[in-house]
Amino acid sequence: MKTLASSIGTKNKFLILGCGFSGSFFAKTIRKFGCVTLTSSRSEKKDPNSFIFDSDKNIYPNQKIFDGVTHILSCIPPDRNGNDPVLSRLKNKLLSLSLEWVGYLSTTGVYGNTKGDWVSEIDQPNPCQKRSQNRLNCEKEWIESGLPVQIFRLPGIYGPGRSTFETIRKEKVRVILKKDQVFSRIHVADITNAIIYLLQNKNTLKFHQIINIADDEPCSQIDVIQYCYNLLGSKMPNPIFFEDLKNELSPIAQSFWMENRRVSNKLLCETLGYKLIYENYKAGLKDCFWKM
Ligand SMILES: NC(=O)c1ccc[n+]([C@@H]2O[C@H](COP(=O)([O-])OP(=O)(O)OC[C@H]3O[C@@H](n4cnc5c(N)ncnc54)[C@H](OP(=O)(O)O)[C@@H]3O)[C@@H](O)[C@H]2O)c1
Repeated sequence: MKTLASSIGTKNKFLILGCGFSGSFFAKTIRKFGCVTLTSSRSEKKDPNSFIFDSDKNIYPNQKIFDGVTHILSCIPPDRNGNDPVLSRLKNKLLSLSLEWVGYLSTTGVYGNTKGDWVSEIDQPNPCQKRSQNRLNCEKEWIESGLPVQIFRLPGIYGPGRSTFETIRKEKVRVILKKDQVFSRIHVADITNAIIYLLQNKNTLKFHQIINIADDEPCSQIDVIQYCYNLLGSKMPNPIFFEDLKNELSPIAQSFWMENRRVSNKLLCETLGYKLIYENYKAGLKDCFWKM
């Protein structure tokens, strides 16, 4: 892999807005390439490269943070009113910078329920949940912002420290059986690597504004849980039928089970040539298992 520094220059400065699970993985990785990277969170951190941005409390970064910024990755979801926290507070600031690239992490929830069919970027979004409609509105706002934005639609994100292993360890796992139900997933390292791959090859690949980042193998929740128990060498609890449990689930958990889709990665992996590190949940979960 050519170095990020050699392909996009060492003078670049990245701002990662919302340094949670995906944002911190991205920040850690591009720092290794020698890029200056500042990260935001809503509370003070010891890290001198971290700053506070909290749209709810109207706390904004100072001017110095923005000096010389060339690349921005926003990992912040819509706020409780459905607005994008970055665009609603910082759009004019961002427009005043000489930005080369802006990435926005979105969700495949915007596609809605395809009853298990494959769905790709050329399909019309059809959100069924309010939060997914809000997300689609935020995507539109990013596209119309005039910023050089690329949107990454993500399914369930997992990785070391946030996977079914943690759910099992906290004794919160529920083995739910719902016929023909599948979920798509992505390992956090593939989100980072795919974005870096696209940045490295920005000048040679055709620019696509919306790209799914998903692995090759959507599958049932039970397959994933069973695989974790196999790696742990213990017995999986008996499954419970979704219909029997439905009313005990939180509204948000219920809403996840009401949508069934297989997210295609053909644009990223075939057209654009990205090679996944973790092609399926088995490869990704082995990584999580080894790093526990
Ligand atoms: N988790 C999934 O499975 C999944 C699936 C598909 C798409 N997504 C979306 O992909 C993106 C990244 O996901 P993730 O799981 O890596 O996110 P995450 O760990 O939840 O991190 C979200 C970040 O946004 C910051 N944030 C939240 N509200 C904010 C506000 N009002 N003002 C300023 N900062 C705010 C948080 O600040 P603090 O660090 O202070 O908490 C945190 O750094 C999110 O938009 C998420 O909705 C997630």
